[in-house]
Amino acid sequence: MNLNVAVQMDPIERINIRGDSTFALLLEAQKRGHAIAYYTPDRLALQGGEVFAAVQPLKVRDEVGNHFTLGEPRRTRLTDFDVVLLRQDPPFDLAYITSTHLLERIHPATLVVNDPAQVRNAPEKMFVMEFPELMPPTLITRDLAEIKAFRAEHGDIVMKPLYGKGGEAVFRLAREDLNFGSLYDLFSVTFREQWVVQKFLPAVKDGDKRIILVDGEFAGAVNRVPAADDLRSNMVRGGTPKETDLTARERDICARIGPSLRERGLLFVGIDVIDGYLTEINVTSPTGIRAVQNLGGPDVAAMIWDRIEAKRR
Ligand SMILES: Nc1ncnc2c1ncn2[C@@H]1O[C@H](COP(=O)(O)OP(=O)(O)O)[C@@H](O)[C@H]1O
Ligand SMILES: [Mg+2]
Repeated sequence: MNLNVAVQMDPIERINIRGDSTFALLLEAQKRGHAIAYYTPDRLALQGGEVFAAVQPLKVRDEVGNHFTLGEPRRTRLTDFDVVLLRQDPPFDLAYITSTHLLERIHPATLVVNDPAQVRNAPEKMFVMEFPELMPPTLITRDLAEIKAFRAEHGDIVMKPLYGKGGEAVFRLAREDLNFGSLYDLFSVTFREQWVVQKFLPAVKDGDKRIILVDGEFAGAVNRVPAADDLRSNMVRGGTPKETDLTARERDICARIGPSLRERGLLFVGIDVIDGYLTEINVTSPTGIRAVQNLGGPDVAAMIWDRIEAKRR
C-alpha cells in the first residue's frame, strides 16, 4: 500500500538525525514506498473551510550532514493526503493550539497522527492527572498556601513548569531549603499559568524510564539516567540512555492507560516513569524511537507505520 503522507514539523535542516523520532518515522515511511511531503507549521492556512499548506516533496537519507532533499513548494489541500504526521515540537502555546484547530478540520478523513483535538486536550503534565493512583503525590496550582501545605506534608518536593519540556526549570527543594520563597516569587512572575509541585522521588538517580506505546500497546522502552551533577534525566541535559525491561508495575501502568490512549486516537505516545510512578504522558511530539533502536530494542517506527497502514486500509 502506498500512502500520500505529509509531515508537519520544525525545520528539517536543524534536526539531529541520530536521535530524532520524526526522522525515524520518515525513513520508515520512505522505505515502505510512501510519498512524503514536508511543511513547517508557519505554512498552514485555513481558507473558506479548507486547510492548505505550501508543501515540498521530501527525500530522506540516514546520513549526517546530507539527510534530506526538498523539492519545490506547492500549495496543496491537506485533504489530498492520506496521512498527516503532526510532529511539531513544543512549546505548547497558542500557536500550537491553533495548529491543532486547523488540523482538526481534516481529521479523520485525512488521518492525523496524533489526533489533533486529542493532542490539544491532553497536555503531557495535565492528561496524566487522570491517573492519580499511578502518580507520585502531585499538586497543580500557583497558590502559595496550597504549595506550603503540600510541602509541609511531603517535605522534599520538585517544582516545575506545567508546559516545560526537556527538563527546563525543574527544581528540587529539600525540606529545609530556604530558597523556597524566592523560587515561588520567580515562578509566579515567570509563568502565567499554574505549575507542578510534586513529591521528590530519590530513585530518579537510577533513571526516568521512557516507555513508548503504539495504539495503546507497549512498544519499547529506554531508561535515562541523569548525570551525577543533575536532577534531570533528559538526554538534552546529559542523561544517558540505558537498555531496560519493564517491571510488573510498569506493565500494569501500560495496561491501565492503554485503552484510554487507543480511544483517543493517541497512536504514538511516550510515558515517563520514575521508580514505578507515572509522571508524564507525552502526546504532542514524543521521542525515543531511535534511542530504543540504538540499544538493540524493537523497531518502533515500523510498528507505528503498521498501525497507520491498518487504519487506512
Ligand atoms: N518528582 C520528581 N522526582 C525526582 N525527579 C524528578 C521529578 N520530576 C522530575 N524529575 C526530574 O526532572 C526531569 C524532567 O522532569 P519532567 O517532569 O519529565 O519534565 P520535562 O517535560 O521537562 O521532561 C525528569 O526526567 C527527572 O529526572
Ligand atoms: Mg520528561
